[in-house]
Amino acid sequence: MRILTGIQSSGRPHLGNILGAIKPAIDLSVQPGNDSFFFIADLHSLTSLRDGETRREFTRAVAAAWLAFGLDTERNTFWRQSRVAEHTELAWYLECFTPMPMLQNATAFKEKTEKMAVSSVNSGLFVYPILQAADIVLYNANIVPVGKDQRQNLEITRDVASAFNRQYGEILTIPEARIDERVMTIPGLDGQKMSKSYNNYIDIFLPENELYKVVKKIKSDSTPLEEPKNPDTDSTFQLYSLVASDEQIRTLRGRYEAGGYGYGSAKKELFELLRDNYATERERFNYFMTEHPDALEAELRAGEEKARAVARQTIDRVRQVLGFK
Ligand code: ADP
Ligand code: TRP
Repeated sequence: MRILTGIQSSGRPHLGNILGAIKPAIDLSVQPGNDSFFFIADLHSLTSLRDGETRREFTRAVAAAWLAFGLDTERNTFWRQSRVAEHTELAWYLECFTPMPMLQNATAFKEKTEKMAVSSVNSGLFVYPILQAADIVLYNANIVPVGKDQRQNLEITRDVASAFNRQYGEILTIPEARIDERVMTIPGLDGQKMSKSYNNYIDIFLPENELYKVVKKIKSDSTPLEEPKNPDTDSTFQLYSLVASDEQIRTLRGRYEAGGYGYGSAKKELFELLRDNYATERERFNYFMTEHPDALEAELRAGEEKARAVARQTIDRVRQVLGFK
């Protein structure tokens, strides 16, 4: 099976991205018989982020996070979307097969633009799902692991690729979304979904003292220290449970339920867990981000060559049937 997924470079990678997207995708990629294509959706980030220097930093950080978590770039293909021009070429073709109401009615588009003045809604936001469809079918992907919020974008991809095939024959591979219902929504500092748009995220790659500062910001209720506490409604405990071993979870649950244990101590436990459990990943991230940016660039360049070779084949087939060749 060919697995493909992308992450936008519109912010620093956070714990939600890592547990919800990067780790599950890497786990799929190591299964025998799977061949994976993972990319940084830097073109998509232009719909929300204009500053070039910031984008460059975020793109490097997202790439370094994939590598820190052990993506094997020999076996898989890993690149920046913007470096393979076939993405935008195919997007244009597919746009000409997309009924406008399909995009107008897309939930993500409606949600993103509902509070904006119409004049400030850029058309990139509107055609966003079609660039995503192009990303996917360009590489003949079978399985696309994504979060629940991406379900509709995958439906759009399937619809548009099917419309294309109905007219020209079996040119494009119709992908399937893989939405792992077990991967829960990781809560952020305020208990809502962790997201860069809510500014409530934990960046596990921060230096120790800053990481601790962020963890201390997790919201907790006002149960007095001496009283027993409900671990199941507490964000610190939930985040701890996502990373800790069963035994560590049992121990911390016991402390909450016994009383005489404060949220401050729980946060310290969580900070230490993140620091120690991700020690290797934190080191690797710094290796690529600060010590050897050239190594990061070399990985991405090698990946881009591999990606382009596959993309060209699809584009050739498409140009052929469309009469551009
Ligand atoms: P953000 O919400 O920070 O903008 P993105 O929408 O760019 O994150 O998400 C990138 C990937 O990370 C997606 O596959 C998404 O499902 C996953 N992801 C993001 N936040 C979370 C979360 N809080 N819990 C689980 N998965 C998440
Ligand atoms: N829209 C996705 C998100 O915000 C990112 C993305 C772009 C993507 N192209 C893709 C995901 C192709 C999977 C496949 O999370």
